[in-house]
Amino acid sequence: MHTFTLPSEPMITEHCEDAVVRRRADISCASLLEMISAEGETLKVSPTTETRRVDGYVVKACSRGSVFGVLKRTLRRNRYRRGWVAGLYLEQQGIGAPRVEGLVEKGRWGFISGSYLIMEYLDGANNVERYLAEMVQDGAPEERIRTFLGGLAQTVNALREAGAFHRDLSGKNIFTRKGEKFYFIDLDSIVPVKRYSRGMHYTNHVQLYDSFCDYLGDDMLEPFMAQMLPEGQDYATWVKLIRRGQMERRTRQIETWRKQGRSL
Ligand SMILES: Nc1ncnc2c1ncn2[C@@H]1O[C@H](COP(=O)(O)OP(=O)(O)O)[C@@H](O)[C@H]1O
Ligand SMILES: [Mg+2]
Repeated sequence: MHTFTLPSEPMITEHCEDAVVRRRADISCASLLEMISAEGETLKVSPTTETRRVDGYVVKACSRGSVFGVLKRTLRRNRYRRGWVAGLYLEQQGIGAPRVEGLVEKGRWGFISGSYLIMEYLDGANNVERYLAEMVQDGAPEERIRTFLGGLAQTVNALREAGAFHRDLSGKNIFTRKGEKFYFIDLDSIVPVKRYSRGMHYTNHVQLYDSFCDYLGDDMLEPFMAQMLPEGQDYATWVKLIRRGQMERRTRQIETWRKQGRSL
């Protein structure tokens, strides 16, 4: 299997109480264990994870599910280490992401009852979907929006050139403070790839287009996509494909919300 080559800087792996802790040298095992049991402020709860803010850090916990959850985490342990590995790799490549501080795997006798990724909280940052919506609402000049989109396209291209694919590249998973530097979050969705397939490009472009098309017209979004166009791809055909993909994605999304009883 293709994997990320990790930095040579030594990371520490140690047993601490009933946990295996991977961490940087400048953060103690005790403070990581304290953070994972702190109440903190809930940022998001999904069927499989819970993300909390604890002071200047974020704890993303996979500790739900009973016996089945424990088995899944134990048998597919590399899957649950993905965020840690991706965070270190992106840092080495100079690609924006929250600084990962540690990975705690709780459990006994080789079973993993809970896996916790601890990373920096991106203080004062917003996701790019909201950032763009606010820019548009505030009447930002067209040139500023184009520069913002250009910077974002460059960052997305850098991720691809580094051989990393984000499975959920929606605007909600990219953060920014001033619209100049960008940070990928949801690090456990980032996987190593040798080369992007056409399908991978397509998935990411639909995700990004869907994040912005409620606020911007195609006069702005088409040049944005052109900057990320897959090699050898005809521009006009590609744009049409992405637009259709976005509509299908939106229909699926609305259907899911309806099933969940969420108001639209
Ligand atoms: N490092 C971070 N800094 C600030 N907010 C974060 C950070 N990581 C996650 N969040 C917030 O928590 C939410 C959920 O985190 P994410 O990793 O995207 O989980 P999920 O897989 O459930 O989408 C994000 O949408 C974001 O609002
Ligand atoms: Mg997310």
